[in-house]
Amino acid sequence: MAEDKTPQGGLDRVLTVEIMRVTERAAVAAARLRGRGDEKAADQAAVDAMRRELNRLAIEGIVVIGEGERDEAPMLYIGEAVGAGGQRVDIALDPLEGTTLCAKDMPNSIATLAMAQGGALLNAPDVYMQKLAVGPGYPEGFIELDMPTKEIVARVAKEKGVPQNEITACVLDRPRHTDLIAELRETGVAVRLISDGDVAGVINTTNPLESGIDLYIGVGAAPEGVLAAAALRCVGGQMQGRLILDTEERRSRAERMAISDPNKIYTHEEMAQGDVYFSATGVTDGNLVKGVRFHPEYIETETIVMRSLHGTVRTIKARHTNFAKFAMV
Ligand code: FBP
Repeated sequence: MAEDKTPQGGLDRVLTVEIMRVTERAAVAAARLRGRGDEKAADQAAVDAMRRELNRLAIEGIVVIGEGERDEAPMLYIGEAVGAGGQRVDIALDPLEGTTLCAKDMPNSIATLAMAQGGALLNAPDVYMQKLAVGPGYPEGFIELDMPTKEIVARVAKEKGVPQNEITACVLDRPRHTDLIAELRETGVAVRLISDGDVAGVINTTNPLESGIDLYIGVGAAPEGVLAAAALRCVGGQMQGRLILDTEERRSRAERMAISDPNKIYTHEEMAQGDVYFSATGVTDGNLVKGVRFHPEYIETETIVMRSLHGTVRTIKARHTNFAKFAMV
């Protein structure tokens, strides 16, 4: 087994810049296919760029949240080893979160990745997850996943100090949420329906002044849940998630990933432990980050990159001047 080169207190902080490079490249690759109506091609381009950049990093990385559970080359699959050698790290990634958003050039498609020390990220199967999230400033544990919807809304409004009709809840627009949306509307809250992209949906709760979103609630994909939890570890806020393991086949897939309690509710701290890094680069415009811009001489990207150890959050607008090199590699 390779020597563990993890510095005391967390990951090598130069990785903050390095992971930003990884999501930047994936975002540019996807953005070249933005609005073309071809989800697969855009996703594949993002995967290829992300893998190439990851393999240049001085890490011994294992993808624990990826694009599939088996060796589905050419996707970045769970269990895939990446990096050129160095610190042992866990990686959660989604080279193109919101493939349909990108294909239709709609807001909030991002290239995203989280990194933590080996064993620190929840190794979750690619199933659905029930999610509940709010931003920073609320008492810990004041809402719970299994509370009735009206109770959740009442507590958020009370703690925020506003009437319920001044609260906005973000929900994925899916038939499975028909009852949830009706319950929310009965309470008087505004429901912001999103067609895709619940990593951004959850992160948006951390800045309600900017996003207008106070609460994220509903069922989305589990890999996106772990990525969002990693972001919340850095920027603040609370999240709970429960994997939906409603068939024998899903339960046994989860068991193979050492998940013994199929009903466990995970907090964001359990989904992403220790020193966590998170990076997201905009592919299309969104209220988290702006999308990629192509100029004749350069390409502009905007990335939000954060680290949990010191709670540093950076929004970095980068101008990539070496156009030919950027386009080629
Ligand atoms: P993709 O990037 O894989 O297309 O995922 C987009 C997304 O909207 C996620 O943000 C969300 O968690 C998930 O799909 C919801 O799944 P479904 O479309 O099956 O309801």
